[in-house]
Order: sequence, then structure tokens, then C-alpha cells
Amino acid sequence: MRMYDIIMKKRNGGSLSGEEIRWMIGEYTAGRIPDYQMSAFLMAVYFRGMGEDETLELTMAMARSGEMLDLSGIQGIKVDKHSTGGVGDKTSLALTPMVAACGIRVAKMSGRGLGHTGGTIDKLESFRGFSTEISTEQFEEQVNRIGISIMGQTADLAPADKKLYALRDVTATVDQMALIASSIMSKKLAAGADAIVLDVKTGSGAFMKTEEDAKALAREMVRIGNGAGKHTIAIVSEMGQPLGNAVGNALEVQEAIATLRGEGPEDFTELCLTLGSCMLVAGKKAGTTQEAREMLQKVIEDGSALNKLAEFVQAQGGDAGQVWHPETLPAAAIHMPVPAPEDGYIQAIQCEEVGNCSMILGGGRVTKDSVLDLSVGLILHKKVGDPVKQGEAMATIYANDPEKAKEAAARYTAACRIGQQPVEKQKLIKAVIQ
Ligand code: URA
Repeated sequence: MRMYDIIMKKRNGGSLSGEEIRWMIGEYTAGRIPDYQMSAFLMAVYFRGMGEDETLELTMAMARSGEMLDLSGIQGIKVDKHSTGGVGDKTSLALTPMVAACGIRVAKMSGRGLGHTGGTIDKLESFRGFSTEISTEQFEEQVNRIGISIMGQTADLAPADKKLYALRDVTATVDQMALIASSIMSKKLAAGADAIVLDVKTGSGAFMKTEEDAKALAREMVRIGNGAGKHTIAIVSEMGQPLGNAVGNALEVQEAIATLRGEGPEDFTELCLTLGSCMLVAGKKAGTTQEAREMLQKVIEDGSALNKLAEFVQAQGGDAGQVWHPETLPAAAIHMPVPAPEDGYIQAIQCEEVGNCSMILGGGRVTKDSVLDLSVGLILHKKVGDPVKQGEAMATIYANDPEKAKEAAARYTAACRIGQQPVEKQKLIKAVIQ
């Protein structure tokens, strides 16, 4: 087989066979196909697309390019959850102990943040001593013992995707549906869970800016997951403004703890209940989403979800006392309110720009090697649709450097659009696709 012929076939709008796709991914992962040929192929896919069978073949070939995690040593149905990423998305922090408290086995691999989006591992490291650098044996043992463990992604998980993603990033070929779907799903399939619940974000802070594109991506990923024999459900949810009120690592941990106490923001609590219900049904702990919702509400009310978080933090070397005393989590020295420049209603909050504010403060990674300040970030006091009075705080900036605080405050002000007309609040859950 020759890469030249495969490029030509795709360039001319042909469909590749499974054999061709498997050969190409194997040879590329082994370093026997140069990046310039793979770049040409990716651009051909960008313009010609891929059919359903081709996308599934590509996903499976990338999933099998490295280690396929075998979670058969963990009893019960393992349910994984994945978000396409956003600002203030601390869902895994609250959701995983909630579903684990209901008996679901959570064996999850998570990543770190890059750019304007945060990552679960960085947030969890707000707990003193907490580590996700654990062995696969410890991971399995912990899930069997307490029902929950989160580890960092192993270097050998879908290495073909790692190489391809880096190439797509510099060849303007990231935003192609089949390539995104196969990239995300290859990692999920290699991570070994029996069922997958996806949270596909849409809006200004998301990868998919329009609801239509987000729904199409969700349908594609559900089709791939089910085609690979994993029960897969996707939710399409709003990311036109930050989720909840907190943005920034330790601040988001505090908000997740408040949510497990039943005192969280309405939108964030609702998302956790919706995703959690899908996870309980997929894991066969509940027959209907209504029954699942009641189970989740109960573990919040009786404190068992919060206890599960403490158990999880302790099992991974963290200071569980901070779950009961979140005021001891990393705290910033400067609290700077951001006043509304005029009376009116918040019409829009540029979501990506709020993530950038957190990054300016030191809470996000500019490069892979950036050292984070876990204490900084923002708390939003007003969200889209809320009325504001001139001078009233729209948000508070948490910082350790006064110059950075001023810069973030100015950018936050510019990110908020205030108008005289009341606006309708956006629906949080746009669709459930299964
Ligand atoms: N996240 C991924 O892992 N891959 C993509 O292609 C896009 C987002």
C-alpha cells in the first residue's frame, strides 16, 4: 500500500477501506509516514469528509494504536463521562462522587487544562497532597474498594490521536466533524469503560459554536460509541456563558463542594443531575431518568455524595479535611469587585474571554509547562438575563498580583454586554441524543 494512493483516493472523494485506514494509522504511528503526507490527507478529509464506516474504522484504528485499558478486573458496569470542554466546567468534581455514592463504578482518566479551558486534574490538585499519578493496579483496587478513582491519561493511550491532533492544530484541520468525533471517541474507547456519557458543549465558550453543529457532533459520537459496542448517550448543553458562578481551580472545587451540600448554583446542579441520571441508567442502577434523579437528590440530601468525595480525596493522598473546611483550600490575597458600568440587563458574557481572564491571573496554562496559581479566578454574581445597577458588582476577581487583577477586571467588563431590554435566559440542556 502507498500513502500517495490513499491521499489521491480521498482527494478525489473516494471512500477508504478498513484495511487502508488501519495500514495508514499503523504506519503513521510507527513514524513511517511523514507529516507532509499526513497533512495532505487531513486536508483532503477536511474538504471531502468521511463516511460513517470510515469514521468508525478511523476511531478504532486510533484507539488500538496504543494501550487498550482492560478494566475487567473492576466489578460492575463502568461508566465514563466526557465533556468537550468549556469555562467553569467543574462537572466531574461533583458528578463523579454523586454517581459513585449511588453505586456506579467510576474509573476515569482526566486531563489538565490548556488555554482558556480548565482541566479536572488541576482542579483536584487544589486539595493538599492529592495525586492522580497512580498505577493502573492502584486505580483498579481503589475503584473496587470505594467505587471511584481518577487518574491522569497514560502516555500510551491512543498515541495516533496525540500525533494527529498536534498536526491538525498546525494545519487548520481541527474543525472537521469526523476528525473531532474520532479523536475524542478513540480515547474514550481505549480507556475501557462499558458505557459512555458525553456532554457536548455549544456556544461562545465551546468548540462547537452553533447548536446544529454540536448536535451533529453528538450524533456522530453516539453512533461511533454504539457501533463499538459501548452504550453511549450524549447531552448537548449550553456554554454561551460560564457554567455555575466559579471560574478558577480552587474556586471551582469550592463550588463543587457547595453543590454536593445542596447549595450549588441552579444551572450547575441541573447539569450534574441530568448527566448523573444518564450515568445511573447506563450503569443499570436506575430504570428511568426520573428514578435516577431521585437517587441523586437523595445522596446530596443525606450527605453520602460529600462523604464519597472525602473518601476519594483521602484515597489519592489528599487532605480530606479540606472537603469539610473548603476555606482552607488555596485562597487569593486580592478580592477585586468588577462594577457594572451602567444600569440594564446582562445580554451576553463572552465565555471564552472569561476563561482568558482566569488565564491572565495565572489560573490557566499558556504553555504545557506553565505553573498554575490554583487560588486565582473569578466569581460571577450576575449571569445572562440578570438585571444590574451601575456600580453593582457583576463579578469578583480573585488575584495575587494587583496589575493582573486590574487587567482581568478590564477584560471582564469588556466581555459583558449590557442592554436596556430584558433577555430570555438560555435553556441549559439543548438535547439528549441516544
Ligand atoms: N478534543 C479532542 O480530544 N479532539 C478533538 O479533535 C477536539 C477536541
